[in-house]
Amino acid sequence: MERFFEVFKKDLETERLELRILEQNAENAKLVWNVLKTQKMSDFQYAPMTDDILPKSLEETCDIMKRQNQWCETNGVNWYIFYKNNLIGYQRIHYWENIKTVQCADVWIVRQFQGNGFNQEIHKKIEELAFDQLDANRICRQCMKDNKKSFNSIIKSGFHLDGIDRQSVIGPDGSYMDHCHFSKLKSEYIK
Ligand SMILES: CC(C)(COP(=O)(O)OP(=O)(O)OC[C@H]1O[C@@H](n2cnc3c(N)ncnc32)[C@H](O)[C@@H]1OP(=O)(O)O)[C@@H](O)C(=O)NCCC(=O)NCCS
Repeated sequence: MERFFEVFKKDLETERLELRILEQNAENAKLVWNVLKTQKMSDFQYAPMTDDILPKSLEETCDIMKRQNQWCETNGVNWYIFYKNNLIGYQRIHYWENIKTVQCADVWIVRQFQGNGFNQEIHKKIEELAFDQLDANRICRQCMKDNKKSFNSIIKSGFHLDGIDRQSVIGPDGSYMDHCHFSKLKSEYIK
């Protein structure tokens, strides 16, 4: 795991974005809460952060951030995405060293900044580091089948749809959702 943390556990830059690892503290939680409180629940229906989809308070935002950091302790990294010094999103990845696989998780970009190719830009960077520096063999990504924006974004990044787990997730409204699994192999990676 040492190499994974060496390559990924730091602030990163893409053409237009900064990916920053934020310390877990009250000031940063406030920064995240100030952004999330402006978002619409309907935009996050396929990527709920809580039973109510979005946090309803600063305290809840703090709990989410703590939880995400805990998930990263053994094999993950969490970044907050900044554009022109403004917080606009989030991305987490995990590494399964035994199968040389990077797993991407829980990306979000605030609605005002969607449609600019930012998600694809973030993943281009992850691919570059995973395949060129970490020597991973595979990157996997997932989304709900009805999450058209996410589905299209993953396909546009050149990922292969490996399969769909039918009705394997229950959404916040109690409905069953189909979960899609995608991957890109090192042999398919185009710089
Ligand atoms: C899914 C999500 C992360 C996609 O973010 P995004 O930054 O808009 O996605 P992309 O990087 O793929 O950008 C897509 C659009 O930008 C356009 N675009 C503009 N400039 C571009 C550029 N320089 N490069 C590439 N695409 C560009 C593309 O044409 C595309 O438009 P289209 O969807 O009309 O075809 C975002 O919709 C989101 O946060 N949703 C809510 C949370 C969520 O569901 N997360 C995913 C959980 S699996």
